[in-house]
Amino acid sequence: MAAKKSSSKKRSKKTLRVGFIGCGAISNAHAHQYKEIDGVEIVAGADVVEANLDKMHNEYGVETDNLFKNWKDMLKNVDLDAISICTPNWLHYEPAIDAMNAGCHVMIEKPLAMNAIEGEKIRALARKKKLVCTIAFQHRFEPATQMIKRAIDAGSLGDIMVAKVHAMRRRGIPNWGVFGQKKLQGGGPMIDIGVHAMEMTHYCMGCPKPIGAMGMTWTYMGNKKSNAVSMWPNWDYKTYDVEDLCVGHIRFENGAVMQVDAMFAGHPSPEMEGMKFEVLGTKGGATKQPPALFYDKDGTMINATPHYLPKNDMWVTKMNNFVDAIRKGTEDKSPVEHGLMIQKMIDAIYESASKGGKEIAIK
Ligand SMILES: NC(=O)c1ccc[n+]([C@@H]2O[C@H](COP(=O)([O-])OP(=O)(O)OC[C@H]3O[C@@H](n4cnc5c(N)ncnc54)[C@H](O)[C@@H]3O)[C@@H](O)[C@H]2O)c1
Repeated sequence: MAAKKSSSKKRSKKTLRVGFIGCGAISNAHAHQYKEIDGVEIVAGADVVEANLDKMHNEYGVETDNLFKNWKDMLKNVDLDAISICTPNWLHYEPAIDAMNAGCHVMIEKPLAMNAIEGEKIRALARKKKLVCTIAFQHRFEPATQMIKRAIDAGSLGDIMVAKVHAMRRRGIPNWGVFGQKKLQGGGPMIDIGVHAMEMTHYCMGCPKPIGAMGMTWTYMGNKKSNAVSMWPNWDYKTYDVEDLCVGHIRFENGAVMQVDAMFAGHPSPEMEGMKFEVLGTKGGATKQPPALFYDKDGTMINATPHYLPKNDMWVTKMNNFVDAIRKGTEDKSPVEHGLMIQKMIDAIYESASKGGKEIAIK
């Protein structure tokens, strides 16, 4: 398996050599897009599951010599510029540190890590080594999110006072991976899908600094066998020890508040279901789903919907953001600092829930 590390002098400077740590479900979304970008080559992969390594060879053309069971062997033996870290949450920290110590730029799947203590160490190393360290948030790149961001940045909605954020599934416990196991994922829907809804909203709000949070969690469904017909049936209810529903309330330094609900399974109405947010500003409001702006104009209360939004694919933009930040030095629009702020909010929500809902200060 072990290939000799090739001399960096021998290879073309133009080619960005990418490796994977974790070659499961989400790695495909990264790999498909890397394949579309000129001058990017997927050259190595590490995973503990042989079938996933075979996939990297068969579907993405990675040489078998460059496929490893242990990511440390991959980093030692293959000359790489960048790594996609697509392992479960408990294995974001160590691979990220190892990859950056090997001189690689990293894209870390969401959430940044298991907690902000790990996250801060990742951030510090990235900045010390001057490497691109992107968190794989894609929803900030959706056209509807971008529409709201433009309106807020232009001042059209005034100061944002409140954001209402939902990541709600009627029956959507992942039936693959380890998403129901707290020690491997850090939590349930709040850290898994709440993180998505929070990142896009927080980004639109201009990333205000969080200063305190409260939260509550409930588990009532995921840890039991279910006979309801659903898209992802037969999840592993025997190892399920995360929450089914979490609600959180975050306060920011600028006086704004975010209310967030995240649910893997329960009985939300169709209006509550989905990944969406609404913001209320002093001069206007906005909803992401459906995309709309609300404001007063010439004495009339206007509800405005876009005539056109580009069919911008958030997955493409997410990968281009990472590659361009490395190759062209463009601004990383999803930097580790943003991931760290979201992580602090999630940590505080969970800590609050474990203490009966009292507010936890965020430093
Ligand atoms: N951005 C998104 O929309 C999105 C969607 C799904 C998952 N994710 C994130 O991606 C990560 C992985 O999720 P997934 O759905 O791909 O899960 P998955 O279980 O399909 O993939 C994880 C992979 O990591 C591998 N792995 C486990 N231990 C390893 C080790 N020691 N060394 C190397 N590989 C190892 C597993 O064998 C598996 O192939 C999670 O952090 C998740 O939150 C993000």
